[in-house]
Amino acid sequence: MEDSIEVILQDHSAKYLHRYPDNHALAAGSGALLAGCYGLWAMFVLPGFRRVPLRLKVPYLPSSVEQTANVMKLLQGRQGALADLGSGDGRLVLAACSQGFRCTGFEVNPVLLAYSRARARWSGVPAGHARFVNQDFWKTDLSGYSNVTAFLAPGVMQALEEKLLAELPDDGRVVACRFPFPRWTPSHTEGSGLDQVWAYDVIAVRKPRPQNPAA
Ligand SMILES: C[S@@+](CC[C@H](N)C(=O)[O-])C[C@H]1O[C@@H](n2cnc3c(N)ncnc32)[C@H](O)[C@@H]1O
Repeated sequence: MEDSIEVILQDHSAKYLHRYPDNHALAAGSGALLAGCYGLWAMFVLPGFRRVPLRLKVPYLPSSVEQTANVMKLLQGRQGALADLGSGDGRLVLAACSQGFRCTGFEVNPVLLAYSRARARWSGVPAGHARFVNQDFWKTDLSGYSNVTAFLAPGVMQALEEKLLAELPDDGRVVACRFPFPRWTPSHTEGSGLDQVWAYDVIAVRKPRPQNPAA
């Protein structure tokens, strides 16, 4: 009777039952890992997002080392105030500070803001040279900035063209990362692939204002 179907089944179920604790631990471990990843993602990407309209939402993605270096090349020889639109963990702002700019990073995610402020302190950036503000840049007047950096998303670049044209001074320069402006012609570009960046001089992309015939 040892080979009867009952014995075989008993044998198999004993094996599976024996293995079950391992499978259970594996499933619980994977679940915990997924929950942890989601928690981290939500902590860094979601906060502050509720305030930005759906069509203008841009997730957090940091500039690579090469992309940052490309941005700095296109800002060489320039000076004054610089705004990073969506400053993330502050890496573009800190790199620009080391090139002598007075920088403001606009960021809606409070976790990234706290991190970039702490990072500025650790890196010993002189007081007042790097400011990180919890502000939606779409609702901010950017006319005080002659240098602007933007690593955002393709879907918002056209709306950003309009905002920057309306607000930036004639001597302004905008550096766009990874996603170029759809209607502007760049004056310079640096890098390739995902690290490509483009510089636009406001005077060159701004259409001449209509002359006043009475003047
Ligand atoms: C692609 S990341 C770029 C981060 C950083 N500039 C860099 O190059 O590493 C875009 C950042 O913009 C922020 N952001 C999106 N919309 C914003 C808004 N309306 N105002 C301020 N920050 C915004 C996001 O939270 C995110 O951190």
